[in-house]
Amino acid sequence: MAKGKTGGSAPMRLDRYLTEMGAGSRSQIKDAARKGRIRVNGAVEKSAERKIDPTADTVTLDGQTVSYVRMEYYMLNKPQGVVSATEDGRHRTVVELISDRKRGDLFPVGRLDIDTEGLLLITNDGELAHRLLSPKRHVDKTYLAEIEGDLPRDAVRRFAEGIVLEDGTPVMPAELKLCADGPEEGRAGQRVLLTIREGKFHQVKRMFEALGCRVTYLKRLSMGSLSLDDSLKPGEYRPLTGRELERLKSSGPAVSETEM
Ligand code: URA
Repeated sequence: MAKGKTGGSAPMRLDRYLTEMGAGSRSQIKDAARKGRIRVNGAVEKSAERKIDPTADTVTLDGQTVSYVRMEYYMLNKPQGVVSATEDGRHRTVVELISDRKRGDLFPVGRLDIDTEGLLLITNDGELAHRLLSPKRHVDKTYLAEIEGDLPRDAVRRFAEGIVLEDGTPVMPAELKLCADGPEEGRAGQRVLLTIREGKFHQVKRMFEALGCRVTYLKRLSMGSLSLDDSLKPGEYRPLTGRELERLKSSGPAVSETEM
């Protein structure tokens, strides 16, 4: 057992440990073990199937310690031009932007279009992701959008009552707020905030299309209790705070920055 660590975690195969921590595929780990590149508590371990205690044993690969992290949670301000995927042949992915990641199995919780910016949670916690994305839970998502075209006068009421998309799909009631600031230099359209409770494909863009308008800029500001940290520039990320995570897991009410 490594110095200063306490035991007690469920045993885990060495190859699974190293694969989860992004050190390589199972076959690469097996090969590394055969070549004597892996040590457990200082001793060379040639069997990738050996069971270890992930919280107590010290594992090294080529002399570098590979620490075990069970769960990771990052808030990313997704930039435009990056895809919400784990792998992509053509574009950078949101997971690749998390350069401090420890694990090899992180994924984005939900998808933002390639040209959408803003809040994206990146984690390996499948249970939390399911909770946030489940269509039954109706987690609120708020977007800032810029719109081209004239919004109908009754747009707020129509969204509040629930509109039907152009292909006939009905969507749940949504809250539309018109931003007081008029078009700025370089900005063509009206700025609005829209809170939706579903996550249909291109939902925000399609909702405005149904009213005869076009979204020219879209940024997600919040998802459930989690709000985008406005100190994060597009492409920047940070780990969630303990409080943010606690709130998300308990699906509690929104936390304002001043409460944190
Ligand atoms: N709605 C959209 O149309 N696009 C997004 O990226 C997110 C919500």
